[in-house]
Amino acid sequence: MKFSPWRFCIAPMMQYTDRHFRYLARIMSRHARLYTEMVVCDALLHGDPGRFLAHSEFERPVALQLGGCDPNKLASAATLGEEAGFSEINLNVGCPSARVKSGRFGASLMAEPQLVAECLAAMGSAVDIPVTIKTRIGIDQTDSYDELTTFVDAIDRSGSGVVIVHARKAWLDGLSPRENREIPPLRHDVVHQLKRDFPHLTIVVNGGLTSMADGNKHLQHVDGVMLGRAAYQTPYVLAAVDNALFAPVASEQPDRFEIFRRYIEYAKDEIRAGTFTRHLAKPLHYLFQGQPGARQWRRHLSERCAGTDGGIESLESAIKWVERAVVTPPVNPLRRAARQ
Ligand SMILES: Cc1cc2nc3c(=O)[nH]c(=O)nc-3n(C[C@H](O)[C@H](O)[C@H](O)COP(=O)(O)O)c2cc1C
Repeated sequence: MKFSPWRFCIAPMMQYTDRHFRYLARIMSRHARLYTEMVVCDALLHGDPGRFLAHSEFERPVALQLGGCDPNKLASAATLGEEAGFSEINLNVGCPSARVKSGRFGASLMAEPQLVAECLAAMGSAVDIPVTIKTRIGIDQTDSYDELTTFVDAIDRSGSGVVIVHARKAWLDGLSPRENREIPPLRHDVVHQLKRDFPHLTIVVNGGLTSMADGNKHLQHVDGVMLGRAAYQTPYVLAAVDNALFAPVASEQPDRFEIFRRYIEYAKDEIRAGTFTRHLAKPLHYLFQGQPGARQWRRHLSERCAGTDGGIESLESAIKWVERAVVTPPVNPLRRAARQ
């Protein structure tokens, strides 16, 4: 069976979806589509592109998300992304932060459908890989369904065929980005309606999904689902993706220990190449979430891997907390009584 390449995506998240997190995610799912953190176009063009574009082949397919509003600059940045081996260029039209707003990009671009269409068209002409957009269902008072369809019409005309929609409108005034991730309520129904009205576009729904059951429910209405916070707060859900959403026949799901072992092999190479252990430790924090010993595991990773010189041992030895918690049998009160 052929599935949409966007059937299951892991959301771009600043400070989280760095290349180490993406490597861990790829160990768990061969099919998930991965996204970088947002890279500001000017920073990429005028800064150190190697730093922003670094990723390993193992992560692919991985999309580079760009923030910007200048069609020519975005086209140049997209070209750099394609040359670096990314599988897709995604334009961020969903971020509500003040910094992004003052740069006139992110969610504020929803008020300028024509400019968004020009940006997408310019990027589309510059590269051969798909150019996509991640957006909201509205901003501030521009939040009617008519206004949303006008916006999506413009995207459609630009030639970009994939629209990822965070099903919550953006508040550019009065709410912090953090608050705006909970308020106002999600409107998944609006995204489902978009798919009915634009059946030829690939529509991906994002916002509030936590499980594969959620994913399967939405896939009755749209082409793809995108998981954000749940992917880093409960990363082990990603080990269920391939079986739940892609496999006609279920295969064995790797357990947390196997995932950790494979990540450690990667971490060894990274540490040898000079990566700080704390950066490698960060994606692991919630791997054992909900398991016995998870709290000690997290504390170990925060404390023992905090410095800049912790070696692979500080990372590897974290496993003792969860192994011990899992393998130590509970004391049998009858035996204890017999011994006394
Ligand atoms: C810490 C954090 C950083 C984020 N950074 C980005 C970003 O760089 N680009 C983007 O398009 N969205 C960003 N988002 C929004 C997410 O991609 C996603 O749309 C949002 O969290 C809703 O999905 P969820 O409910 O599954 O978390 C970020 C969200 C979080 C929590």
